[in-house]
Amino acid sequence: MEEELHALVKQAESGQNAVSTRAELADFKATFVGPNGSLTTVSKGIGKLPNDQKPVFGKKINEVKQRLEGIFSSIQDKIEAVEFEARMGPAVDPSLPVAESQPGTEHPLTQAREQIIGIFRQIGFTVVEGPELETEFFCFDALNTPASHPARDMQDTYYLPGDFRLHGEQKRDDESFILRPHTSAVQIRTMAKRKPPVRILSPGRCFRRDTVDATHSANFHQVEGLYVDREVNIRDLKAVLDHFVQELFGSDTRTRFRPSFFPFTEPSFEMDVQSTNLGKLSGRWIEILGCGMVDPNVFSHVGYDAEEVSGYAFGMGVERIAMILHGIDDIRHFYQNDLRFLQQFKSV
Ligand code: DAH
Repeated sequence: MEEELHALVKQAESGQNAVSTRAELADFKATFVGPNGSLTTVSKGIGKLPNDQKPVFGKKINEVKQRLEGIFSSIQDKIEAVEFEARMGPAVDPSLPVAESQPGTEHPLTQAREQIIGIFRQIGFTVVEGPELETEFFCFDALNTPASHPARDMQDTYYLPGDFRLHGEQKRDDESFILRPHTSAVQIRTMAKRKPPVRILSPGRCFRRDTVDATHSANFHQVEGLYVDREVNIRDLKAVLDHFVQELFGSDTRTRFRPSFFPFTEPSFEMDVQSTNLGKLSGRWIEILGCGMVDPNVFSHVGYDAEEVSGYAFGMGVERIAMILHGIDDIRHFYQNDLRFLQQFKSV
């Protein structure tokens, strides 16, 4: 009997390589452990043995059974691996060199934003962010923009029904939530929390109900700047913005202030730049941002004493800066995710 068992294992070992499908495996198993299989037949012989030999022989049978199970499962593994490869293609060899791949690039708007921030960081501005979903108070009231001001018109601003207060914030009467039309709201949030001096820059996404065309987008990006301290004046504003544009567009860049109006600054200006490094735009005066001295009414909303402190603020569109920097003529290119466009802006 022992010899029979031995032969049976040998047979399984030498036969296993010929088994390559699930059906063949089923037949192969049946040859040994099926109702008429060789192991089944041998184990039936146990009944005829003398009692004292039964346990020894039973143990042997179990060993052989386990040995066979091992062979069956290694055949099963092989079959599954072949099936898997047929489904998924050949196994990956992680030690092989990778196929050539293109590293990604930062989006040109991200690059422009980082360039702007980098310049102001070097002269002491810190970056602060505010929510995109804002209240009328932070976007308008506190920025000296009364309810009757045209900037509040439904044409300009997305109003949202519902209450989206940030955790722990107080509700003001009759206040609506809006998608912020500018980042100037962050001025108020910052001053309400900090004592002067403050010197901040606030980049972020803004929304307006604009019809999309080559220069307008309902969703765009701004960078807001604010400096409040004792005895801040227009010269400081002009010096900082001159420095900024010379870093951005080159040292021969000139600026000019044109009188303008913003509810939260008095006086207010639009700033234009002229430079020789701007391709098709070289030599032309180009409007790039709005700015001015913080209106004392704004200080009264945040508990600052307008007799003690003064400040300047400015706000610019990131898209506009990127378009000037790279000579891009249509704002829609930024949002179309066309790799042929995006790959032209290698990260700096
Ligand atoms: N918030 C203005 C806008 O969206 C831009 C702006 C102008 C911001 C003048 C300022 C400023 O801080 O002083 O058009």
